[in-house]
Amino acid sequence: MASIKLTNIHYRYRPGDPWILKDISLEITHGKTLVVGRTGSGKTTLLRIMAGLIPEIYGGELKGNVEISGRVGYVPQNFDAFILMPFVREELYYILENQGYSPSKVLQKTIEIADQLGIKHLLDRRVDTLSIGERQRVALASILLNKPDILLLDEPFAFLDPPSAVSLLKLLDKLDLKAIVIAEHRVDYLIEWADKVIVVDKGRIISQGDPVEVLRNTPNHIPKPIYIRYGLRSWREFIRYVGSREHMV
Ligand SMILES: Nc1ncnc2c1ncn2[C@@H]1O[C@H](COP(=O)(O)OP(=O)(O)O)[C@@H](O)[C@H]1O
Ligand SMILES: [Mg+2]
Repeated sequence: MASIKLTNIHYRYRPGDPWILKDISLEITHGKTLVVGRTGSGKTTLLRIMAGLIPEIYGGELKGNVEISGRVGYVPQNFDAFILMPFVREELYYILENQGYSPSKVLQKTIEIADQLGIKHLLDRRVDTLSIGERQRVALASILLNKPDILLLDEPFAFLDPPSAVSLLKLLDKLDLKAIVIAEHRVDYLIEWADKVIVVDKGRIISQGDPVEVLRNTPNHIPKPIYIRYGLRSWREFIRYVGSREHMV
């Protein structure tokens, strides 16, 4: 069974520095999890640990227990650096060829994944002529070719306008993944998408559970949608509330 389990994690990039993550315990087994916190709170570092990149790639000092079972796919914020080939088609071929597929299977699987991610029309384009949203889909396609059970996305909305952000969430919902974890501080759309939220503040988990309940009860410096700041439960309620106040002024 695929899962990520962290127990009493402490981490710093250099021995002797202050701890970046402090006493982190969490478990990811299924569903949609949002990791929320201000910039610098430790979200990216936490995802790197969940992806198994710490300490192998980033070094540093890690205390506590990390158990990762199953396949974990990780889409970093700088996903561009992970696209290696000049053409979209070559990028997907390269990954599939490395997996040992025959040329006809490589072609078939490339078409399948491109269809699924809505990038079939981009297959013969140069990667450097694509929009950033299109490149994000190419990066996502190449990660999905490794058939992850759990997908981690770091600030996937950073370069997207609102319609592209919504369309990315719809796409993620169509993928047959066991668990998805998104780290973001732009939480307006994600709060209704997520089953669970984990709030990170200054390297500690200060709260986790039901998104609306948890964000209602976290301090004001934690990113949250405006409707929660007004004590309401949804955008729908917020719009009704704003409408009802209009004739009072
Ligand atoms: N590769 C690195 N080497 C040293 N310090 C780092 C590195 N990456 C992040 N940090 C530091 O770790 C802290 C947490 O950063 P990060 O995990 O990127 O938080 P967030 O993703 O919430 O913005 C910050 O103080 C940041 O400067
Ligand atoms: Mg980050």
